[in-house]
Amino acid sequence: MKKYAVILAAGKGTRMKTCLPKCAYPLLKKPMIAYIVENLKNTGLLDELIVVVGHKKEVIQEILNVSVSYAFQEEQLGTGHAVLMAKDLITDLDGYTLILPGDMPLIDESVIREAIASHNSCRHDLTVVTTVVDEPFGYGRIIRNGDNLLHSIIEENEASDSQKQINEINTGIYIIKNDILFASLNKIGNDNSKNEYYLTDIVKILKNEDALMGTYVLKTSYKAMGVNDLYALSIAEGKLRLDINKKHMQNGVAMTNPDTITIGHNVIIEPSAAIYPNTYITGNSVIKKGAKIGPNTEIHNSEIGESVICKHSLVFNSKIGKETTVGPFAHLRDGANIGENNRIGNFVEIKKSTTGFNTKASHLSYIGDAEVGDKVNFGCGSITVNYDGKNKYQTIIGDNVFVGCNANLIAPIEIHDDSFIAAGSTVNKNVPKGTLAIARAYQINKENYLKINIDKDNE
Ligand code: UD1
Ligand code: CA
Repeated sequence: MKKYAVILAAGKGTRMKTCLPKCAYPLLKKPMIAYIVENLKNTGLLDELIVVVGHKKEVIQEILNVSVSYAFQEEQLGTGHAVLMAKDLITDLDGYTLILPGDMPLIDESVIREAIASHNSCRHDLTVVTTVVDEPFGYGRIIRNGDNLLHSIIEENEASDSQKQINEINTGIYIIKNDILFASLNKIGNDNSKNEYYLTDIVKILKNEDALMGTYVLKTSYKAMGVNDLYALSIAEGKLRLDINKKHMQNGVAMTNPDTITIGHNVIIEPSAAIYPNTYITGNSVIKKGAKIGPNTEIHNSEIGESVICKHSLVFNSKIGKETTVGPFAHLRDGANIGENNRIGNFVEIKKSTTGFNTKASHLSYIGDAEVGDKVNFGCGSITVNYDGKNKYQTIIGDNVFVGCNANLIAPIEIHDDSFIAAGSTVNKNVPKGTLAIARAYQINKENYLKINIDKDNE
């Protein structure tokens, strides 16, 4: 028996009032649809994931790539119509399908597991996942009969004033036997205020056919939150942020003022690391034990070594070796691979470069497309000149090199071990091992120059 999931992501997201398709909007820099797919996969309970796409389908497909199958809904005629579009992909009619909207990013593995377990143990034809909320506005309300059994779902637009008082809502998650799903979908009409084919109408249809229906009432109602506008998106992001931070803190990561700290869903932080205010760590970043990150730091897709200190800085797609200090106001990007025990200080930018052990660039440097050895010192203002307006060139620097203040190293160039670049030099020829390179105008001292001029003026 095959188990399917159908995720509805064809809608435009009219209430977002912007141009991205709704399910592509990011929380903590990751699109909401990606959370849903990842969590569904992690349960290991589903054989096939089908995403229904329509409006700007290429955006959703680029996010999810080939990790799922796609069904197409050319015109957005409603959630019932959207599920129908997956019919050809659901070939095992003896199996069941978990249906869920693509705009509920907080739904996690445990909710999916619990809902499926409840469906299986009750042997229902249809299980509707419901929850009770303080503010039900906008959601479909759950109508129960005198015996407290599921009777129907009524949408906000169709509900009477008294029905609008009901606090039990439809989360939009259903588990349903496939033969029953497709038999009932064909019977849904669009005679309602939006002229849409509401998926929720299958409850009424199945009720008339005496199907075995029931609900699974989710206790953690916030996890079923649907994101329909940018305000809801910010609330969902805030909840996700706090959940993630709590998990890290309980795992031994210290956080100061955690409300201001944003850690992405896939970030790994080892216990005994400390994170300070206004810090973002996102993508597939890894923070090793004892590291101190922030305040005011942004790290994306980067690996930060043990006991690194990184404050007031930006680190993107880079790696920092253990016991290195970074910042304030450093910018490491595009494959900066910083060795152990380095010092990368104020206003230093490093791009696509590696550094060895115990190297220092303490102030105002640019290091781009460079391979730098151990124990190199970049003086204040020294830079690699890697770009001639058309192409980028490599700078190779050996071990124990001292680059004086304000030196320009014009690439392509090699500065060999134990050499010394005089301050203010513009070096465009390779420097052999153990050499002092001076490439600047000699100083001329005109003695008594000021006095002669003054005497002239007084004549
Ligand atoms: C829906 C439910 C409502 C439930 C709520 C939970 C219906 C009719 N209503 O309302 O009972 O309480 O979700 O959050 O199902 N979509 C398509 N194609 C369409 C229309 C929608 O793929 O033609 C997708 C959307 O992209 C979205 C999902 O289905 O991801 C839900 O659609 P949305 O318009 O947000 O439904 P709600 O009004 O929130
Ligand atoms: Ca919704």
